[in-house]
Amino acid sequence: MMLLLGALLAFQQPPAAPAKTCVECHREEEKEWQGSIHFRNTIGCADCHGKDAVDESKPDGQKHARGKTFSTGKVKVVNVEMCKTCHAGVFEAFKGSQHWEETQDPDAKSNGCLACHAPHATAPADRRAIQNDAKRGCANCHRKPTATQRVAMEDYCKNAEGLESEVARIRDWLAKDRPGISTKAEREVLDECVHKLKSIRTEQHGAQPPVYEKIAKGVGPQSRAAADAYSSLMGKEQEFGKRFTGLALFLGALLVNLLLMRAWLKQRSAHA
Ligand code: HEC
Ligand code: HEC
Ligand code: HEC
Ligand code: HEC
Ligand code: HEC
Repeated sequence: MMLLLGALLAFQQPPAAPAKTCVECHREEEKEWQGSIHFRNTIGCADCHGKDAVDESKPDGQKHARGKTFSTGKVKVVNVEMCKTCHAGVFEAFKGSQHWEETQDPDAKSNGCLACHAPHATAPADRRAIQNDAKRGCANCHRKPTATQRVAMEDYCKNAEGLESEVARIRDWLAKDRPGISTKAEREVLDECVHKLKSIRTEQHGAQPPVYEKIAKGVGPQSRAAADAYSSLMGKEQEFGKRFTGLALFLGALLVNLLLMRAWLKQRSAHA
C-alpha cells in the first residue's frame, strides 16, 4: 500500500527541469566565445572548464559544486594547465621562456597564455597583431622593448613572412591546371616549408634570443629551397611552352602542305 502510494506520488511529481547549460547562465562569455577559433573547432565551455554540477537553489557564489574536474582558469598557472591539455607542444616551448618563470611568480605581471591570447574571444594567432596589441600582447608589457627584444621580434616576423610568401608563390603556381608538367619534387619542398612554418610558430613561445637564432638558422635554407623549387617550376613551364610551340608550328606546316596538295589534285582532275 505504502509502496503504491509512493509510486503514485513519484508519478505525480513534475519531471525534473532539464539542467541549464553553461551558456544559459553565462551570456557574456558565450558572446565572446562565439566566432572564436575554439567555437569554430567545436571546443566548448566544458572542454576548458570541465563539467560541473550547479545547484540553482543556492545563492550566487555557491551555485557551483566546484567538483574535481572544474577549473576556473582564473589563476595564471591554472590557465596554462588548462591550455596545455590540447596545446602540449606550445607548452613545451613556453616552459623555456622567462614568461613562464614570471607566470609562476604570483607577484609578477606575466599571465600565462592569457598574456597574449584571449580566453574566450581566442583569435587565430596573428604575430603582428599580437606584437602590437597594447592591451594583451608584447606592447602591453614591453612598452620600450630592449634592443634584443626588438631584433628578436622584428627578425622573427621577417623570417616567417619570407617563408610564407615563398609558400604562397608556389601554391599559386600549383593552383593553375598545367597538365603534362611533373611537380612531385616541388610539392615535397612545399610540404617541408609548411611543416617548418608550423613548427616555428610553436617554437617561438620559447621567447629567448637563442630560440630566435635557431629559428632563423632553420628558416633561411628552407626559404632558399622554396625559391629554387619555384624557379624549377618556372623553368619547366617555359620548356613545356617551347615544346608546345614547336609542335604547333610543325602541325601548322603539315596542314598547309595538305591543303596545297589538295588544291593541286583538284586542279589536275579539272584539267583531265
Ligand atoms: C579555451 C578555453 C576556454 C573556453 C573554451 C571557455 N573558457 Fe571560460 N575561461 C577560460 C579562462 C582561461 C578563464 C580565466 C580568465 C581570466 O582569468 O581572465 C575563464 C573565465 C571564465 C569565467 C569567469 C569570468 C570572470 O571574470 O569571473 C566564466 C564565468 C567562464 N569562463 C565561463 C565560460 C563559458 C560559459 C564558456 C563557454 C561559452 C567558456 N567559459 C569557455 C577559458 C575558457
Ligand atoms: C544555473 C546557472 C549556472 C550554470 C548552468 C552554470 N553556471 Fe557557472 N556560474 C554561475 C554563477 C551564479 C557563478 C558565480 C559563482 C557561483 O555561484 O558559484 C558562476 C561561476 C562560474 C565560473 C567562475 C568561477 C570562479 O570561481 O570565479 C566559471 C568558470 C563558470 N561559472 C563556468 C561554468 C561552466 C563551464 C558551466 C557549464 C558546465 C557553468 N558555469 C554553468 C551560474 C551558472
Ligand atoms: C579541448 C582542447 C583545447 C583547449 C583546452 C584549448 N584549445 Fe586552443 N585550440 C584547440 C583547437 C582544436 C584549435 C583549432 C585547431 C588548431 O589551430 O590547433 C585551437 C586553436 C587555438 C589558437 C589558434 C591557433 C592558430 O593556429 O592560430 C590559439 C591561439 C589557442 N587555441 C589558444 C588556446 C589557449 C590560450 C587556451 C587556454 C586558455 C586553449 N587554446 C585551450 C583546442 C583547445
Ligand atoms: C604580460 C607581460 C608580457 C607580455 C605580454 C610579453 N612579455 Fe616578454 N617578458 C615579460 C617579462 C616580465 C620578461 C622578463 C624580462 C623583463 O623583465 O623584461 C619578458 C622577457 C622577454 C624576452 C626575453 C628577455 C630578453 O629581454 O631578452 C623576450 C625575447 C620577450 N619577452 C619577448 C616578448 C614578445 C615577442 C612578446 C609578444 C609576443 C612578449 N614578450 C610579451 C613580460 C611580457
Ligand atoms: C608572449 C606572448 C605569447 C604567450 C605568452 C603565448 N603565446 Fe601563443 N602565440 C603567440 C604568437 C605571437 C603566436 C603566433 C606566432 C606566429 O604566427 O608566427 C602564437 C601562436 C600560438 C598558437 C598557434 C601556433 C601553434 O603552435 O599551434 C597556439 C595554439 C598558441 N599560440 C597557444 C598558446 C598557449 C597554449 C600558450 C600558453 C602555454 C601561449 N600560446 C602563450 C604569442 C604568445
